Amino acid sequence: MSPNYTRLTGALLSGLLLLQPASAVPGVMHPRASSTSSASSSPSATGVCNGNADFCNRSYSNITFVGSHDSPFVGSLPQQNQNINITAQLNMGIRFLQAQTHHSITDDSVLELCHTSCFLEDAGTLQSYLETLKSWLDANPNEVLTLLLTNGDSVDISEFGDTFSAAGVDSYAFVPTSAGETLGISDWPTLGSIISGGKRLVVFLDYGADTNTVNYINDEFAYYFETPYDVTDATFSNCSIDRPPGASADGRMYLINHYLDVDIVGADVPDRGAAAHTNAAMGNGSIGANAALCEGLYGRAPNVVLCDFVDQGQLMQAQANLDSL
Ligand SMILES: *[C@@H]1O[C@H](CO)[C@@H](O)[C@H](O)[C@H]1NC(C)=O
Ligand SMILES: *[C@@H]1O[C@H](CO)[C@@H](O)[C@H](O)[C@H]1NC(C)=O
Ligand SMILES: *[C@@H]1O[C@H](CO)[C@@H](O)[C@H](O)[C@H]1NC(C)=O
Ligand SMILES: *[C@@H]1O[C@H](CO)[C@@H](O)[C@H](O)[C@H]1NC(C)=O
Ligand SMILES: *[C@@H]1O[C@H](CO)[C@@H](O)[C@H](O)[C@H]1NC(C)=O
Repeated sequence: MSPNYTRLTGALLSGLLLLQPASAVPGVMHPRASSTSSASSSPSATGVCNGNADFCNRSYSNITFVGSHDSPFVGSLPQQNQNINITAQLNMGIRFLQAQTHHSITDDSVLELCHTSCFLEDAGTLQSYLETLKSWLDANPNEVLTLLLTNGDSVDISEFGDTFSAAGVDSYAFVPTSAGETLGISDWPTLGSIISGGKRLVVFLDYGADTNTVNYINDEFAYYFETPYDVTDATFSNCSIDRPPGASADGRMYLINHYLDVDIVGADVPDRGAAAHTNAAMGNGSIGANAALCEGLYGRAPNVVLCDFVDQGQLMQAQANLDSL
């Protein structure tokens, strides 16, 4: 059996896994979802940071961002999670983007944005996506953006580094601390300080980060914990720590997976019809209710609320509510 055949078979099999409940396969269908710094304040040139004057003097780790889950998968098919493209997501105010990466089917040296399998949904190359982010950062100098990537094929970190360099976006990537170390939750700089430092793209990877090799791609689970994903309970009543398993909330920022799935013949697919309700600012099952439940448990607001169909509901209102102290 040739390696290519094996790879093709593997990819087909992983496509077929979608017919299984996604929960049976950890990470399938809904896996995820940065200079030595000081916490001193130094506002941006305009005195407005991410559109908010208060944020210039507020630590990155004390801000709630609504985020786009599976941000590149745009369209009306069941495996697509968003209605509007990345630029439109950024322009509506989204400042936290999550995306899945896999090796391309046709070229094993290329990182592609695919949903579980590149046969199912292939939204183009990671490099092209990063070029879009770079253009947007070029045009929006007072904005800090966070990118959370998943590494579904356990690709070596150097390939991610090469792709960021090829896109020219590595020059924007924030380096929180010395290689091999983790910045403490209370040590994150203010947005003003990040903006004046010019390194306005904060990058995390779910698995396989190694800051000794690529110093700006940070280990997601050293910095965050997450609530369960593949949620099919419209009330979002479970705010337990799902990953990293057994983790402590202390010292970690946290991300809540606030996107609803519906079971269609055994596969969990994004519940498009419920999106306006799920993404409401307030009310049963809303962003506000989910965040309030979590805040009750952990004594602080979530750092990230990851959502499908970000154009539906009231994401920006929900974010403003969570960020008003
Ligand atoms: C920034 O925050 C610090 C501590 O939170 C405070 O001492 C300082 O007065 C603030 N500066 C401005 C300009 O608001
Ligand atoms: C993204 O969407 C906007 C608004 O619909 C549109 O104007 C723009 O051309 C789109 N960009 C790309 C690259 O498709
Ligand atoms: C809540 O989520 C945790 C972590 O994933 C899980 O262990 C637990 O079984 C869930 N509880 C309920 C009631 O589903
Ligand atoms: C929230 O909605 C669910 C059904 O989606 C319902 O069972 C529950 O009673 C509602 N809770 C409140 C507080 O309204
Ligand atoms: C930011 O700090 C305030 C004051 O301690 C707290 O109420 C809020 O929940 C914090 N937000 C986040 C995202 O940590």
